[in-house]
Amino acid sequence: MEAKTNITTTMKRLFLIPLSLILAFQLSAQNQATLHADMGKIKISKNIYGHFSEHLGKCIYGGFYVGEGNTKITNANGVRLDVVDALRKLKVPNLRWPGGCFADTYHWKDGIGPKDKRPKMVNVWWGGVTEDNSFGTHDFLNMCELIGAEPYLAANVGSGTVQEFTEWIQYVNFEGESPMSKVRKENGREKAWNIKFWGVGNEAWGCGGNMKVEHYTDIYRQYATFMTDWSNTSKTFRIASGANGADYHWTEVLMRDIPHNILDGVALHHYSVIQWSNKGSATDFNESQYFATLKSALFMDELVTRHSTIMDQYDPSKKIALVVDEWGGWYNVEPGTNPGFLYQQNTMRDAMIAGVTLNIFNNHSERVRIANLAQTINVLQSVILTNEEKIILTPTYHVMEMYNVHQDATLLPIDLKSTDYQFEGKSLPAVSASASRDQNGAIHISLVNIDAKNSQEIAIDLQGGKFSSVTGRILTSPSLQDHNTFEVPNKIKPDAFKGATLSNNNLKVKLPAFCVVVLELK
Ligand code: AHR
Repeated sequence: MEAKTNITTTMKRLFLIPLSLILAFQLSAQNQATLHADMGKIKISKNIYGHFSEHLGKCIYGGFYVGEGNTKITNANGVRLDVVDALRKLKVPNLRWPGGCFADTYHWKDGIGPKDKRPKMVNVWWGGVTEDNSFGTHDFLNMCELIGAEPYLAANVGSGTVQEFTEWIQYVNFEGESPMSKVRKENGREKAWNIKFWGVGNEAWGCGGNMKVEHYTDIYRQYATFMTDWSNTSKTFRIASGANGADYHWTEVLMRDIPHNILDGVALHHYSVIQWSNKGSATDFNESQYFATLKSALFMDELVTRHSTIMDQYDPSKKIALVVDEWGGWYNVEPGTNPGFLYQQNTMRDAMIAGVTLNIFNNHSERVRIANLAQTINVLQSVILTNEEKIILTPTYHVMEMYNVHQDATLLPIDLKSTDYQFEGKSLPAVSASASRDQNGAIHISLVNIDAKNSQEIAIDLQGGKFSSVTGRILTSPSLQDHNTFEVPNKIKPDAFKGATLSNNNLKVKLPAFCVVVLELK
């Protein structure tokens, strides 16, 4: 009897030792991941790193454009060159213009020809200011050429006509002889721009006409029918005005009732906002507000998953793209600024929004193939802020710049088990990740720890490849509320990251609280 007990105890010990060893290994890192380096099939479209520029506040006027006569700020035909330089470095793949809500009030013919003859209008959506149309089609499209970004024109459906829309395409895209190409040439541009991306209105459910989706669907069918390519080189890519956040019925009807040969993209808008009636300050926020903002940002994952599932039912081959052409954080405007201008500062909280959202887009890149952060300069979650001749790059700029290694790279599956970021009994996954392999074979892993207080260790099992070196960059700062200012423009900027170690294809990473890290493995 005693002998049997001893044998049983010994056997138990034998089993317990390896088990405890396994547990010890697992507990040594709170977060576990497996990266499948040889399993990539899908390309991460560079176009999910797009931006959005509306005639709103100081995005265009004072942001991109300071006027031809400006002698204080270096410019080319009125477009500021410091901004062009910063956006070239960012590798902005596409830029959406002229709105937003403004798009459905915009008549493009008001923005061509001699500037002193252009009619003025009132910008009814944004501050009721006078829009003198000095920045129009030529200004925008030539500026995109300078930046190296592909234009994405959002055309007026709400208060425009089919004819106005199709003439705009003819004006910018037609090389041959036609009424519109003739005017373009008279206005100084011989060659067509060959614009591919076209939005058929904006937020048709709201500022674009307060339409029901069934009504908009018919309107879309009519407009899209007359969207002749007018181009020898670009096939028009038609994007339907999409759902407001979780309005899944909207996507369902578009996908069901629009013939797929005239539909290339379905849009989706989602802003990370605490509460529309009380959005809180961009810089003066507590952890509860931080948690709520990140919860809203992470909701993007559910949104793109559920909209994609609906799209899959009607388009299993994924011909039609999900186009998240407005996303980002939205807070109260900075004290003392025009409430209609949506000018807000940009802190480490915004860096977290950008990091987790871009990871979501990367991981859904089979369906999400275009996205546009709102908005590029001086409006909402900007990458650049300007003040007369000064400019600063925001933490969001730095995240987008760090992540641009993923543009057009092959998405690699990464299975991640994250611990929770807990706050007052609520929880969110602390760590988010995405990975890709670029054309030179280098692998990039972007990691975000949103936890406001705790660092996170992550053990990544690298499968399907052999790696000999790891390097990285990190964006972090002592306080979540930290931001760059015109007085201290470089308080937050990427640094070399020393917290990753590689041994036998096991990668250990220590992420400080609220940081974004991009690693390169070779
Ligand atoms: O980005 C600001 C506004 O938000 C856009 O004009 C509109 O499309 C959205 O509601």
